[in-house]
Amino acid sequence: MYYNITIEKLNHQGKGISHINNKIIFVKNTNIGDEVKVKITKETKKYLEGEVVRYIKQKPTNIICPYYYQCGGCHISMMSYQEQLIFKKEKVENILNKYAHINNKVDIIPSTNQYNYRNKVTYHVQNNQLGFYQEHTNNLIPLTDCLLLLPQIKNIACIIQQKINLSNVTKVVIKEHDNNIMVNIEGNIDKPKVINILSDKVKTIINNNKVIYGDGYLFQTIDNYKFKVSWTSFFQVNIDVMQKLYQTILKLSNLTKKDKVIDLYCGTGTIGIYLSKHCQEVLGIEINKQAIEDANSNKKTNNIQNIKFISGDVKKIINNHYQANTIIVDPPRKGLDNYTIETIKKITPKKIIYVSCDPITLARDLNKLQIQYNIDKVIAFDMFPETYHVECVCLLNLHKTFIK
Ligand SMILES: C[S@@+](CC[C@H](N)C(=O)[O-])C[C@H]1O[C@@H](n2cnc3c(N)ncnc32)[C@H](O)[C@@H]1O
Repeated sequence: MYYNITIEKLNHQGKGISHINNKIIFVKNTNIGDEVKVKITKETKKYLEGEVVRYIKQKPTNIICPYYYQCGGCHISMMSYQEQLIFKKEKVENILNKYAHINNKVDIIPSTNQYNYRNKVTYHVQNNQLGFYQEHTNNLIPLTDCLLLLPQIKNIACIIQQKINLSNVTKVVIKEHDNNIMVNIEGNIDKPKVINILSDKVKTIINNNKVIYGDGYLFQTIDNYKFKVSWTSFFQVNIDVMQKLYQTILKLSNLTKKDKVIDLYCGTGTIGIYLSKHCQEVLGIEINKQAIEDANSNKKTNNIQNIKFISGDVKKIINNHYQANTIIVDPPRKGLDNYTIETIKKITPKKIIYVSCDPITLARDLNKLQIQYNIDKVIAFDMFPETYHVECVCLLNLHKTFIK
């Protein structure tokens, strides 16, 4: 069944919204005002999903990627960069308002680069071809030349595609830090041959979780700090925006030498180390053992004395005997669990700085924290241009009535 519809607005994932017989329909790759002929691809009791068959009238777009309509990795390329920033600012404001009744105006910090910003890529491999899975499918779109990637990463991907036998390979991950490259290949390869082809171009190679060339890690410079990043450790994908994020966290935390800080979900210790010179002491907690090894190495490299790291699950380690004036949380997309929220409330720090990559779980958690904390500032960071994803930092200050 085909329908002609006009897109009325966009949802949080940048999909066009319209109505057919009073039922809501979501259509990707459309913009407000577009008139499109759509095919229904999914029907549930509550909503429809459709695919554009033909654009009857399309708003001028800014799409420069030839794979945009097939790939699905980018969601909002039809907008100018300025429109993307407004979309993300309003998206965070709407989500916070809808799920937590928070009415703060949100500032948005742009990325210096709209393209060529990503320092990490995961290619899937099928029939000897590197590429990306089409959204929600295992259909591979063969391509190495993604506009979001740093050029150094694309160069290595081209070499791997042209020179390495990928017939028994399932995945290739490439990361860049400080102009050095780390490659992780999953599957069976001719190791000596791969090392021979790549060793003068990359710093380290991993195959099936084993380091087969180099040390298995790289270093990343952020302002005056140097951070070791092992291949399994989390690291932000847009270094320019990461730098702006950390400068903002330092400013919002307004630390004094008397302050004790806890950095929950600390990864390689980056935020804690960045703050450590401005406070009395920092404690970092992180579940990934390799990231904690990196964090301890980063402590030494940066000559920091007042920081300690604990490896383990935050909810198993943190308890109300911990003391801190400031708690930083930077959880994965699923946000904070209830035990951690309740324990943070019992520790009663003066300030909480919540760093989030998902505004929906952020709103859910702020809703629980705002019984005890004022949400004084929300800043969005465009860590992921061209996609609907957005990073946020919130400053929470303890309500006066809770100050002991
Ligand atoms: C968004 S990253 C933040 C890392 C770090 N703050 C940074 O800026 O690079 C989230 C981190 O939480 C860690 N993590 C996930 N679940 C955890 C848990 N239950 N307890 C402790 N750490 C966890 C992940 O390994 C990851 O390093």
